[in-house]
Amino acid sequence: MVPVLLSLPLLLGPVVPQEAQAGRYSLTYLYTGLSKPSEGYPRFWATGFLNDKEFFNYDSESRKAEPVGPWRHVEGMEDWDQESKLQQAREGIFLETLEDIMAYYNDSNGSHTFQGRFGCELQNNGSRGAFWKYGYDGEDFIEFNKEIPAWVPLDPAAWNTKKKWEAEEVYVQRAKAYLEEECPGILQGYLNHSRHILDRQGTHRGLRLGAQGTS
Ligand SMILES: *[C@@H]1O[C@H](CO)[C@@H](O)[C@H](O)[C@H]1NC(C)=O
Ligand SMILES: *[C@@H]1O[C@H](CO)[C@@H](O)[C@H](O)[C@H]1NC(C)=O
Ligand SMILES: *[C@@H]1O[C@H](CO)[C@@H](O)[C@H](O)[C@H]1NC(C)=O
Ligand SMILES: *[C@@H]1O[C@H](CO)[C@@H](O)[C@H](O)[C@H]1NC(C)=O
Repeated sequence: MVPVLLSLPLLLGPVVPQEAQAGRYSLTYLYTGLSKPSEGYPRFWATGFLNDKEFFNYDSESRKAEPVGPWRHVEGMEDWDQESKLQQAREGIFLETLEDIMAYYNDSNGSHTFQGRFGCELQNNGSRGAFWKYGYDGEDFIEFNKEIPAWVPLDPAAWNTKKKWEAEEVYVQRAKAYLEEECPGILQGYLNHSRHILDRQGTHRGLRLGAQGTS
């Protein structure tokens, strides 16, 4: 279990895109990669949230996606071996992107942080939302605009990333389909198995995450 690195700049705004609200559910993945992990920290870790609750984590040392908290007792919600393989593949792409950025800035030996946050939300009234963005050293780096659809560079180095991630037309379509179809489908399946955990806890206590729009 990896504690949040307090020394890291808080990237990409709040982890969970909006305040918990009745009938509103979100699935959020938060990825962090460190070029020079200090002792006790992995090079890469991923955390999954349902609303503001962490439900699984993965890191580059265990290489295993494992449910946490009440989700350890939810049967049949996810195939955790498959999920581990998925996270392993995403770790590879993620760290390769971090290396590309450092190479762009001629600082392949430097100490840098890369973070990604993406996910989707469903509301009982049928409304949907989704988001996918990355940050480098605490600054916005690139984000996906699913209406265009395209990756929008927010940093000079991100033009190369965009080129790579849009090398084939189908990549952009896949990213759009992931946000608009696959992610909500996964969220729906998770809710079918564990909505009671989220509803039982009602509005969260103490942690005010602030509102932030989704597109
Ligand atoms: C990196 O180094 C190359 C070769 O020295 C130089 O052309 C380029 O402008 C440098 N890039 C940055 C972002 O400083
Ligand atoms: C990175 O560090 C290694 C060992 O300290 C050194 O040999 C290499 O030249 C450095 N590379 C860059 C790009 O600074
Ligand atoms: C669903 O409710 C939210 C606020 O609770 C509202 O912003 C949104 O427009 C509604 N969507 C539909 C399809 O009614
Ligand atoms: C979730 O449950 C609903 C209603 O029982 C069902 O129609 C739907 O197929 C389920 N979805 C997933 C992804 O399991």
